[in-house]
Amino acid sequence: MRSTLRKEGCDEKTVFSIVAVEAARRASTITDMAHRTLIIGASGGIGSAITAKLQDNGSEVTTLSRSADGLDVTDEASVKAALGKATGEYQLIFVATGALVVGGAEPEKALKEVTAQSMSGQFAVNCIGPSLVMKHALPLLPRKGPSCFAALSARVGSIGDNKIGGWYSYRTAKAALNQMIHSAAIELKRTHREAVCVALHPGTVATDFTAKYAGRHKTVEPEEAAHNLLAVLEGLGPDDSGKFYDWQGEQVAW
Ligand SMILES: NC(=O)c1ccc[n+]([C@@H]2O[C@H](COP(=O)([O-])OP(=O)(O)OC[C@H]3O[C@@H](n4cnc5c(N)ncnc54)[C@H](OP(=O)(O)O)[C@@H]3O)[C@@H](O)[C@H]2O)c1
Repeated sequence: MRSTLRKEGCDEKTVFSIVAVEAARRASTITDMAHRTLIIGASGGIGSAITAKLQDNGSEVTTLSRSADGLDVTDEASVKAALGKATGEYQLIFVATGALVVGGAEPEKALKEVTAQSMSGQFAVNCIGPSLVMKHALPLLPRKGPSCFAALSARVGSIGDNKIGGWYSYRTAKAALNQMIHSAAIELKRTHREAVCVALHPGTVATDFTAKYAGRHKTVEPEEAAHNLLAVLEGLGPDDSGKFYDWQGEQVAW
């Protein structure tokens, strides 16, 4: 929304006011929407902060994770079994799983470091995993009324934004995940007219994930990231489905 208003020539003050009014207008929608939520990867830094924030907001939160429930997103039988136990409808399903280092393979600095193993490991965790979750979790969204499926991607998965290269396997797996989310959103719209299905970039967040890699990037605490991401979801409607948003609610280039 912000970028559309800017393109239409609105100054920053006007953009801020319109976005604030729109967020307030949708506030009741998101409160209803978050009545029952399902968090996959609730053991992670961002996943646990999202869980805590939603619980504070009074949502009934169901959590699933590898460490607490043995859910391995790379194994379809495991995904099917875990999600098969989830009953009823969830207005918000949030996937917070992912890894930067898989099977000991660090993100590549140069093409010569790319191996079939590093690529397949990244695809398994960062693309196939959330895709299998989508396959088995989207039927849990209500067909009527607002609902949301969101998965954590990463800005480095953006081809349009890639100016420094490197991190080949992780970037590529996230780019592939973005395509899955975009395609699934198109299919979902046919049966769930009010649903939103999006990829999110959380910013650089101080979790185990970034402990070695944040470098000189400004990091935020998981609680702040959770607040930002839920605020972004509050501002989205069905017309925003199938897109990729950062923690500020700005659309990220594919
Ligand atoms: N932190 C950042 O700055 C940042 C930036 C951009 C994008 N992201 C994205 O945000 C997501 C979460 O990051 P985070 O910082 O919260 O990381 P984190 O603290 O390391 O948490 C990772 C989560 O993924 C789960 N997981 C990993 N492999 C799994 C598997 N095979 N099956 C099931 N669960 C699995 C972990 O489960 P267990 O711990 O239970 O094993 C944990 O819940 C990732 O997708 C990441 O790409 C993060």
